[in-house]
Parts: sequence; C-alpha cells; structure tokens
Amino acid sequence: MKVLVATEKPFAAVAVDGIRKVIEEAGYELELLEKYGSKQDLLNAASNADAIIIRSDIIDAEVLDAAKQLKIVVRAGAGYDNVDLAAATAHNVVVENTPGQNSNAVAELVFGMAVMAVRNMYNGTSGTELKGKRLGIQAFGQVGRNVARIAKGFGMEVSAFDPFCPDEAMVEAGVTPVHSVEELYADNNYVSIHIPATPDTKKSVNYELITKMPKGGVLINTARKEVIDEEGLQKALADRADMKYVADVKPDNAEALKAEFGDRVFFTPKKMGAQTSEANINAGIAAAHQVVAYLRDGINKFQVNK
Ligand code: 3PG
Repeated sequence: MKVLVATEKPFAAVAVDGIRKVIEEAGYELELLEKYGSKQDLLNAASNADAIIIRSDIIDAEVLDAAKQLKIVVRAGAGYDNVDLAAATAHNVVVENTPGQNSNAVAELVFGMAVMAVRNMYNGTSGTELKGKRLGIQAFGQVGRNVARIAKGFGMEVSAFDPFCPDEAMVEAGVTPVHSVEELYADNNYVSIHIPATPDTKKSVNYELITKMPKGGVLINTARKEVIDEEGLQKALADRADMKYVADVKPDNAEALKAEFGDRVFFTPKKMGAQTSEANINAGIAAAHQVVAYLRDGINKFQVNK
C-alpha cells in the first residue's frame, strides 16, 4: 500500500525521516510530494495512494475523485478546514487530524509576535512590557492552553472565552473564564485568536468586536485569516490609531494594510506557527502512526468525519 506525504510546505527533514521509518516498518511504501507546483502534481500522486498525510494542503472533491484507492487522509495538525469533509465521507474516506501535536509551536509564536508588537516592531522607540497586562484568549483548546501557560510566565493576567469549554478547566489553569466574546475584547489589552474557520466563525472578528478593545489594544491571529472581517479590520485600524494587528495568517488585503498602517501591522511571509522541527516531528509522526493504525487495525480514534 502507498502512503503519500503531500506537503506544499514541507516538514523538517528529520520529521520526514521519522514518518518514513513508521510507514516502512509497517510494510508500506512512502511517496514524498513536497513544494508541488500545481494541483495536477497532487492529482497524479494521489491517483494510486491508499493514504495521504497533509498539512494545509487542499483535499477537495477533485482530489478525492482522482484518488480511487484512498482510504484515509490525516491532516498533520489541528485545523482541517482544508479538507472537504462531506466529499470525503461520500467517498468513504476517513479524515483525521493530530490534535495538540503542534500547539506549543503556535503558542510560542503568539509571544514572538506579541513582544515584537509591544516593542513597536523593534523600531528603537520605547515600547511596553507584557508583565501585568491583560491577555484574552479566544478559544481554550490546545493552543489556547499553551498560550495561557506561557502568559503566566510573562506575569500576565489571563482570561479566556470558549463556549465549548467548562469554566472549571480554565480555573484549573489559572485562567479567568469570561462568558461573552464582547467582554473578552473589551477587557483585555491583548487578544489572541484560536478559533477554527467554520461557517459560524468566518468574518466573526469584525469592526464592532475589534473596536471594543481598550486603548493600545493588540490583536494577535495565529488561527485562520477567514475568521477576520478584513474590511472591518481595515476600518478599525483607521479609526483606532492606537491599535495594532499581528498575524501568522496573512490577510488578503495585507498589502493595503501595510501601506496604510505601516508598523502597526505585521504578517509572517508564510504561515509558520507550526514550522518547528519539534512540531513537525510530533504532528508528522503522529499522522504516520494514525495511518498505520487505520490501515492495519481499523483504528479511527481521531476521525473528524464520523
Ligand atoms: C494547524 O491547523 O495545525 C496549524 O494551522 C498549522 O498548519 P500548517 O501545518 O499548515 O503549518
């Protein structure tokens, strides 16, 4: 059986070695398709694959149609908005993710960008410190919990909003639960976004919400660009010269924002929250084990299209 690793944004080589070992020791063949230039390359490679391991790579109905032998897709990472779940289910293809495996890497980048923002993008002028400031975490999943842990080390006051997480879990982590997203934005100097992109969350971070932030507010997005109402963000930054936006998920209007707001906005050139050797090893090897567990034993513990 063939396991295709299709990563437009490749894993670290050491992670690929680990994935290969797991796949080959199980008696399967591994094909590596990295930095592919066109969708046709993915369609060709998928055509005889029994399993595919991906990152943010798009698995849509066309890929599923082409992959006649496909049994499982594992997204090595958390968010699976890049996979057409309905089409996968219609094709009898199991879709899994690897929750938590890359979350520390994403959480650390939140603080990389937060420090840069409060030090005025390192332009040499006096900035501020994180210590003693209030951080609001939007969604208390695996990344949110790591953000809370690190924020405590900085001496920040941490609160979180997550309608799917019981208050007790937040309290146990030393985090104050808040019960509306409006309150989260209104009460915190910094807000870090960790919601997935779903029909409900798309464009949900809008002008009204952003402008609830207090003076000097910094909004940090390492989640998905789709959750931001980009026009609303642009208007908010225009009306609120005190605010900053830093993101690992470049908005479609990045050039316009950069031109209009200069150092008050920052975008990584390519999404790199999970781009560490550790995260690649954790998520990539977990994905390989999940492929083997499913192909060999039918185990589907992490299936997201049940
Ligand atoms: C995730 O959903 O796991 C993160 O956004 C990381 O995505 P990536 O594998 O494309 O870097």
